[in-house]
Amino acid sequence: MRIDIISVLPELLTSPLEHSILKRAQLKGLLEVEVHNLRTYGLGKHNQVDDYAFGGGAGMVMMIEPLANCLDDLLAQREYDEVIYMTPDGERLGQGLTNRLSLKKNLLILAGHYKGIDERIRTHYVTMEISIGDYVLSGGELPAAVLVDAIGRLIPGVLSDETSALFDSFQDNLLAPPVYTRPAEFRGWKVPDILLSGNTAAIEDWRYEQALARTRERRPDLLEEED
Ligand code: ADE
Repeated sequence: MRIDIISVLPELLTSPLEHSILKRAQLKGLLEVEVHNLRTYGLGKHNQVDDYAFGGGAGMVMMIEPLANCLDDLLAQREYDEVIYMTPDGERLGQGLTNRLSLKKNLLILAGHYKGIDERIRTHYVTMEISIGDYVLSGGELPAAVLVDAIGRLIPGVLSDETSALFDSFQDNLLAPPVYTRPAEFRGWKVPDILLSGNTAAIEDWRYEQALARTRERRPDLLEEED
């Protein structure tokens, strides 16, 4: 999979992309991520990318021209399955949407800043708008990093068997069951006997029951959801 990201603050994306699983995915050649600095498409000698909003009001708006030029360049190089704009008023990101996006070949993500982007970009270029939650961040870079991480780890071959995404919380609309590792007893706090029994079928049943109980207690809404 290839993901291109347009940003005015590419540095904010560097670290998440250069560590752990996303790093491994890229080294294995399973994921290619390229960040494009919008500033290089900025106007005038100050490489301007934002301007006052027509009609007044606080906050700057990202200008149409640098964005359109950058998008045109990228769209001329490949066909994108989706052009995604990260925004609090987009569709809420959940595991279902993440799963669907992990099957795509080319994604283009637009990380906004300031008060937002000129609406004409949303109308004429953007095919999908995604929010990572009902709160406002100062820019779209961290949401873009969240999205790339959530998608990247689902690409076949990225995770090893032990960390397989199949066992994640939210797959099957269930939260994950509790997990333990050595020692089997610490300060008198014991690991449930069943996990030491070696009975894999019974352990699987126990895990399912625990996941169900945890979901009922903490997120009953998930049990009513069909994704
Ligand atoms: N940009 C600012 N806040 C955001 C959010 N909650 N989700 C996606 N993009 C954003």
